[in-house]
Amino acid sequence: MPGPRTLTNLLELFWRDGFSRIHEIQQKHIREYGRIFKSHFGPQFVVSIADRDMVAQVLRAERDAPQRANMESWQEYRDLRGRSTGLISAEGKKWLAMRSVLRQKILRPRDVAAYSGGVNEVVVDLIKRIRFLRSQEDDGETVTNVNDLYFKYSMEAVATILYECRLGCLDEDVPEQTLRYIEALELMFSMFKTTMYAGAIPKWLRPLIPRPWEEFCRSWDGLFRFSQIHVDNKLREIESQLQKGEEVKGGLLTSLLVSKELSLEELYANMTEMLLAGVDTTSFTLSWATFLLAKNPQIQQSVYNEIVRNLGKDVVPTAEDVPRLPLVRAVLKETLRLFPVLPGNGRVTQDDLVIGGYLIPKGSDLSYVPQTQLALCHYSTSYDEDYFSAAEEFRPTRWLRHGHLDRVENFGSIPFGYGIRSCIGKRIAELEIHLALIQLLQKFEIKTSPKTQSVVPKTHGLLCPAGAINVCYADRE
Ligand code: HEM
Repeated sequence: MPGPRTLTNLLELFWRDGFSRIHEIQQKHIREYGRIFKSHFGPQFVVSIADRDMVAQVLRAERDAPQRANMESWQEYRDLRGRSTGLISAEGKKWLAMRSVLRQKILRPRDVAAYSGGVNEVVVDLIKRIRFLRSQEDDGETVTNVNDLYFKYSMEAVATILYECRLGCLDEDVPEQTLRYIEALELMFSMFKTTMYAGAIPKWLRPLIPRPWEEFCRSWDGLFRFSQIHVDNKLREIESQLQKGEEVKGGLLTSLLVSKELSLEELYANMTEMLLAGVDTTSFTLSWATFLLAKNPQIQQSVYNEIVRNLGKDVVPTAEDVPRLPLVRAVLKETLRLFPVLPGNGRVTQDDLVIGGYLIPKGSDLSYVPQTQLALCHYSTSYDEDYFSAAEEFRPTRWLRHGHLDRVENFGSIPFGYGIRSCIGKRIAELEIHLALIQLLQKFEIKTSPKTQSVVPKTHGLLCPAGAINVCYADRE
């Protein structure tokens, strides 16, 4: 199997700042070596796959508890502090047990539909915030760095679902506790490279290079602390209701606390990991969707026309309305094709596999020898002309079904993953993004402004905008 040399890889990543260009390096390697190639990173053997059918083959062959990547540093932090793993960091039977509980509660569209009301309240605050921010600008219409705005929206919206409470992210004065959480989250991502090193630096070297591991732990401490405060608040509320003999009603957290299907530590860990996974992902996607709609006014007009025709100019949407707005859904799919938040995903082989004519060994069973890592190159397949014609263009209509037999499922673009280990927050993310987009388009025409610059993506753990996205929100009549 062809592939780049170890030294070339290391130079690219560490010397030429390849960590922020992982999506481009993916494409470059595919041009040079083809849609399946191998790399070595020290003892780690990685097989990269950028062929739609091979990606499908890998994911369809998965067994009970697929493993994404080596999570040793995450596990080590949890062992050190006596914490549990959550869905992202857990493996095997423990993962399967937690996944079965959470899947029942947040992966079925009808369960998530119940959160429309809470999310819509956050959308009202988002719109208020946009009005305030643009009033601060000379033209009265531009909002600069929309990602900051959508970050706050996404955090507030996901918290209404996960913690059943408001955090005040969209207020003029954000509460101190929330600010501290944001700091911990920023530390986790701004220290992306450092946290990578935290896992990569052998333990015996830590006394000499202590900072990466210390920052890694400090950031997790902040994230866990925040979740624990909110879970404990809800627990106290429930206990007090029970003492008074009142009926206990509520959403996700209440139901998990009452049913005791997860231990308290498992709840802290899952709330922490879901909040971590659910904020930047959603906010980057909303930022790109806003950018693409501003740059493509005709497409924006068609989406607006669909909303007015099938829902109405002022009707507040709920999850049940979304199926009647296929173009809104297509905007999200097309945004995620062009800017997949996870430009690549991983799987650790659990069996020997034959892919593309190559035998890929599962690797050694010895715990200190890494298994073979598969890297699924979603960014590259998303831009492959064989799978998507005019792949560089924003064309949401490519996702519309024209008949019930016309399947549009395409392993070239699977932004939430596929199968049993796919994104558990998919329905939540869709709800937050659809409801926000519909109401933003009902209220505003999103336009480029003299301050709009061209923005390209960069990899920073996730694929994010490399610069500030600045657009106008002009009132519709
Ligand atoms: C646009 C938004 C989002 C995108 C594109 C996205 C994408 C993904 C992807 C690609 C994975 C890996 C799937 C796999 O390995 O096959 C994943 C996993 C995960 N996501 Fe999301 N995600 C988004 C939003 C969310 C939200 C809102 C939450 C929580 C409320 C969330 C929670 C998780 C969790 C917990 C996992 C790990 C699941 C497991 O290992 O069982 N995500 N996500």
